[in-house]
Amino acid sequence: MFVNTTTSYGLVARFFHWTIAVLVLIDIVLGVMGKFTPRSGDTVGFLQLMYSTHKTIGVAVLALAILRVIWAILQPRPVPLHPERRAETFAAEAAHWILYAAIFVLPLSGWVMHSAEVGFAPIWWPFGQNLPFVPKSEALAHTAANVHWAAGIVLAATVAAHISGALKHAILDRDSTLARMLHGIEAGNRQGEIGKHAAPALAALLIWGLAIGGAVTVFASPNGAQTSGQGTASQTTGWAVQNGTVAITVAQMGAAVTGTFANWQAAIEYDPDTGTGHVNASIDATSLSLGSVTVQAKGPEFFDVETYSQATFDGEIARGDGMAHSATGMLTLVGKSVPLTLDFDLELANGVATMSGTTVLDRRDFDMGAAYPDESSVGFSVEVLIELTAIQPQ
Ligand code: HEM
Ligand code: HEM
Repeated sequence: MFVNTTTSYGLVARFFHWTIAVLVLIDIVLGVMGKFTPRSGDTVGFLQLMYSTHKTIGVAVLALAILRVIWAILQPRPVPLHPERRAETFAAEAAHWILYAAIFVLPLSGWVMHSAEVGFAPIWWPFGQNLPFVPKSEALAHTAANVHWAAGIVLAATVAAHISGALKHAILDRDSTLARMLHGIEAGNRQGEIGKHAAPALAALLIWGLAIGGAVTVFASPNGAQTSGQGTASQTTGWAVQNGTVAITVAQMGAAVTGTFANWQAAIEYDPDTGTGHVNASIDATSLSLGSVTVQAKGPEFFDVETYSQATFDGEIARGDGMAHSATGMLTLVGKSVPLTLDFDLELANGVATMSGTTVLDRRDFDMGAAYPDESSVGFSVEVLIELTAIQPQ
């Protein structure tokens, strides 16, 4: 019942076949949906949920695939039902080998891509996110993405042929090929020879060699989308900010008061390969709301928005360790320019950048609140929080 015979699939083999089949089909659908979902502020949440589901299912497929192969090695393989149809038997066996390889190549290339890039959509299994020995590297993530993409095409084409074959047996030939995998019934000649030819496995190996070889060489740039044909050392590309928050917190009579600027914009150039770039942000000071003290904050003592309606920051971006980045430049506020380094974390994946950073300013550097020379009513420190999501136009 549990084990295979030379004429039937046991319960365990059928469990592995159908569970993995369903999970793989779901993951193909999710992967393709992700590919065709436009990157925008509105879709970021959906993409994150979708990719986390995709990755979590994919990792489960890998674990099941390992168990399945161990089981398959220990088991007899049911004989082909029509061994005399040489070409058909060859094609079916080659497809099985391709599919066996696919349930390793896809999850592994996906996981390498996930480990090599920083952040975005986590895997939900509680065993850690990253594969050992895989460094954080944009170039490696691009290569893995290409392998994943090429493998997806090989898988989808083979699954289509495999399903068509199963349906042909059920509908045209009206034999028991599908029933044998569905219900575990016996079919085929007990004395029949189990396919022991190496040719179908070699054909599968050749197809995988071409697909993976092509993915890491011919299409070496990220999905063929960007090329460094100009030979420039660094390629910065503009990022379009989708949404975000610029907030400040000050201590008023010892209590923290937080407010936000409703209107601001940022032009961001960033090269993921080198981790360098440039940011130019302007903040509409008149759009500040700071609770019950909004009017005072905008007044001549502080932001003086009548005279200085804009605050600007212009700086160079540099990468530290992992997600850590900094932007170093000049902040111009109420007509005074002060050097500022903003430390922030940048998570970058699938064309979506999520940035969050904080810094602390001293209002005295900008001569703000001269009439409040101590901290009894208004603190000196102004905490600034910046969070934003940006997309790389395709
Ligand atoms: C059964 C396993 C899997 C299948 C069948 C599968 C299939 C696919 C397909 C068809 C796509 C869309 C085509 C493409 O953009 O490459 C895709 C994209 C993607 N998959 Fe998978 N995948 C699997 C496992 C995984 C795993 C385990 C991970 C990560 C841990 C992963 C991460 C991704 C990512 C990040 C993308 C987007 C690629 C990009 O934007 O370039 N996948 N997958
Ligand atoms: C609706 C979808 C599917 C149907 C109807 C289907 C049907 C079948 C049938 C009837 C067999 C038995 C063939 C024989 O005895 O010669 C089989 C075997 C097999 N199928 Fe599928 N299949 C489906 C999806 C998949 C998927 C998505 C995969 C892999 C990712 C897969 C991998 C395999 C493998 C490796 C075998 C060889 C037998 C084994 O060692 O388990 N199948 N399938």
